[in-house]
Amino acid sequence: MLVLGIESSCDETAAAIVDDTGWVHADVVHSQIGLHAPYGGVVPELASRDHLRNVGPVVRSALDGAGVRLADVHGIAVTNRPGLVGALLVGVQAAKGLAWAAGKPLVGVDHLMGHLLAVFLRRATGDADVPGFPFVCLLASGGHTAIYRVDAPDAAAITELGATRDDAAGEAFDKVAKLLGLGYPGGPVVERLARGGDAARVKLPAPMAGSDSLEMSFSGIKTKVAQLVASGGVPATSAGVADVCAAFQAAVTGVLAAKLIEGAAREGVSEVVIGGGVAANLELRRRASELGARRGVRVFVPPLASCTDNAAMIAYAGSVRLSRGERDGWELLATSETSLERKTRKGRGRR
Ligand code: KG4
Ligand code: ZN
Repeated sequence: MLVLGIESSCDETAAAIVDDTGWVHADVVHSQIGLHAPYGGVVPELASRDHLRNVGPVVRSALDGAGVRLADVHGIAVTNRPGLVGALLVGVQAAKGLAWAAGKPLVGVDHLMGHLLAVFLRRATGDADVPGFPFVCLLASGGHTAIYRVDAPDAAAITELGATRDDAAGEAFDKVAKLLGLGYPGGPVVERLARGGDAARVKLPAPMAGSDSLEMSFSGIKTKVAQLVASGGVPATSAGVADVCAAFQAAVTGVLAAKLIEGAAREGVSEVVIGGGVAANLELRRRASELGARRGVRVFVPPLASCTDNAAMIAYAGSVRLSRGERDGWELLATSETSLERKTRKGRGRR
C-alpha cells in the first residue's frame, strides 16, 4: 500500500511517498527556517503563506521522486493536528482537494503520532531493526515533551507517563539560543557549540531531576540562563558561550535520558524510542544509550531525517490507519490540540 503524506503543521512544507512496510520511496522537505530566522521564531502568518506557495511543488516532487502518479497511491494522509491552525489548513485543504480529484481515501494524522512511529521508517536496506510493542517513547520537539507507553500504534493504546509542566525541551533550546544571540532554531547550534564547552564551569539547575515522578520542567533552567545574561551579559568569549551551551545541554539531556530510562524500568519494558526534533541531539542519544545499557534497556533512535519534521512519518502513521480501514471525510478539521493529550488527561485522573 503506497501512501502520499503531507505535513504543514509548523515551518516545514513536506510531502512523502511511503508504503505500509515503512519503506520511504520519496521524502521532500521544504524548510522555512531562512524565512523565520530574522524574527527568532516562527511567524504564523508568514508560515501559512509559504506553505501555500510550496505545497503544490513539494507534492509534485515527492510523486516524481518516487516515480509514481497520484493515481498509483492508495490513500492520502495529512497532518491535521496539533500545530499552527493557519499552517495546518494549507496541508489539509491540499490533501482534501487531491483526495477528491483522484478519488482516494483521506486520513488525518496527529503529528505526535507521526513522531512516535517515525522509528518504523526504513530509508536504507539495513534499517530493519525496529522495536516491538510495548515500548516507552520520549517525544521531545519544539512544541511537546512527554514520555509515553506505546502498546500499539493507535491513540487509544498510548498512555502518557509524564510530560513537561511548562516549556518543551526544544523550545528551551530555542529560547537559550535566542538569549545568547545564536539565532533560530537553537537546538543544532547549541549542540555544535556545546562540543567545545565545559559544562562544569556554569552552574545550572536541573529542575525535577531528582523528583520521583516522570514530570519534567524546563522553564527554570531557561530563566537561569536569562538571569546570567541579564546580570553579566552574553559571555564575551566564544569559550564562555560554549560553556553555557554545554551546561544547558548537559542539564536538559540528563533529565530527559534519566526520565526515559526510569519510565521503561517502571513499566517493565525493555525497549525505548526517542522521537521529535530534539532526538537529533547526539548528547541525548549518548546519555540514553549509556543509562539504558546499565539497566538492560535498548534505545532506538530514528536517523536524523526521521527525527525532525517530515511527511514520511505522517504517511506511515496514515498507512497504519488506512490498513485498519479508517477514513476521514470532508469534515476533517485542523486543530491545535493533540489527540494524545486529551486522552491522557482523563487517564491521569484514573491512575
Ligand atoms: O519535531 P520538530 O522538527 O518540530 C516540532 O514538531 O516542534 O522539532 C523542532 C525542535 C526545535 O525546537 C529545535 O531547536 C529542536 O527540535 N532541535 C534540537 C536539535 N535539532 C532540532 N534540539 C537539540 N539538539 C538538536 N540537535
Ligand atoms: Zn514535530
